[in-house]
Amino acid sequence: MFSHRTSWDRTENRLTRAIQQARSAGREPFDLTESNPTRAGIFDLEQLIAELGHPRGAIYAPVPRGHGEGRRAVASYYRQRGYTVDPERLVLSASTSEAYAWIFSLLADADDSVLIPRPSYPLFSWIAAQQKVRLVTYPLQRDAGFRIDLGELRRAVDARTRAIVLVHPNNPTGSFVRRDEAAELCELAKEHHLALVVDEVFGDYGFEPFPTDALPSFLDVERAPLTFVLSGLSKVMLLPQCKLGWTVVRGPDDLVAEAMARLELIADTYLSVSTPVQLALPAMLERRPKVQAATRQRLRDNLAALDGAIAELGPSSSVRRLPCAGGWYAVLEVPRIHDEETWVELLIREEDAIVHPGYFFDFDRDGFLVVSLLPEVRGFRDAVGRVVRRLGRG
Ligand SMILES: Cc1ncc(COP(=O)(O)O)c(C=O)c1O
Repeated sequence: MFSHRTSWDRTENRLTRAIQQARSAGREPFDLTESNPTRAGIFDLEQLIAELGHPRGAIYAPVPRGHGEGRRAVASYYRQRGYTVDPERLVLSASTSEAYAWIFSLLADADDSVLIPRPSYPLFSWIAAQQKVRLVTYPLQRDAGFRIDLGELRRAVDARTRAIVLVHPNNPTGSFVRRDEAAELCELAKEHHLALVVDEVFGDYGFEPFPTDALPSFLDVERAPLTFVLSGLSKVMLLPQCKLGWTVVRGPDDLVAEAMARLELIADTYLSVSTPVQLALPAMLERRPKVQAATRQRLRDNLAALDGAIAELGPSSSVRRLPCAGGWYAVLEVPRIHDEETWVELLIREEDAIVHPGYFFDFDRDGFLVVSLLPEVRGFRDAVGRVVRRLGRG
């Protein structure tokens, strides 16, 4: 009765079971994977939510690519960052995830493929399965600061390849595409008629000092191939519940015009973005400097707490944090005396702390744990301190 592509394995994993066991024993482990910014107490988000009460939100006047006011507000956000974006080359969607689905169906027929980075964010497989697109991974080189292995990427391209996905900065490695990589990617895309799909949801969260060889945004690239730059309120304003993402379409004029016309029809099929949130966008985005200053402070504080805990283990410890240039996560390299899943279970059971195993993100080998840098600072410092000391003891 049901499609093959939705016959996912829904059995509980060991991590979920370990958390449930802790809870049924009356314990509440500290969640070092907390990625929901509305639960992190970084900013008083109620004042932003109040903007959803715009009186004109009472009238439904759908515009498939998004209300002009909302699109102009996004263009003005980019202007503040130093980029010129034409609101006519922007499409609003209910989330970045939805934008991915739209772009995959815009570019790919059943069994065409898109290239995705490895390691990276685990949502692609779900979106691709639903859009009937095949995913082919290309490696990021861990020992080279997660630079793209361009040789492998080239070899992965075949006649069915439609696009290269870049997560910029990547989740969870926090690595930005370098300028020289971006130049080669653009050439490769033009040569094989591929589009670039660039997820810049964490683009505002680069750490200081920003690496000189890294590209701040694909909006910086001149003479770009057909490129879709994705972002949205989830990360830019800490408002995933408001359900608003956007896509900037760049590249040769004829391709952009065709892509915009088709995307408009895809968007028109669902009209998924609520009118109140579109009308609230200008007022919400005005508060961005304060929201992001508070978020950056949180990321800095938690990163410092993590590094402090690792430093206390001394120079001979085999626990280390992989370098990262931005984003909301940190990756720990841990002793391989246990596999990742065993470490995760042990940390829940013995140290009351939940971390992600690296394999969630498809690292090339075992031996990595991932923590979110969003949780409130005291709880984070205590929990990450326990975790690091336990990892250090082996
Ligand atoms: C890299 C990346 N892209 C996209 C998303 C999803 O964002 P949205 O809420 O806009 O779908 C996330 C969420 O964690 C993410 O980490």
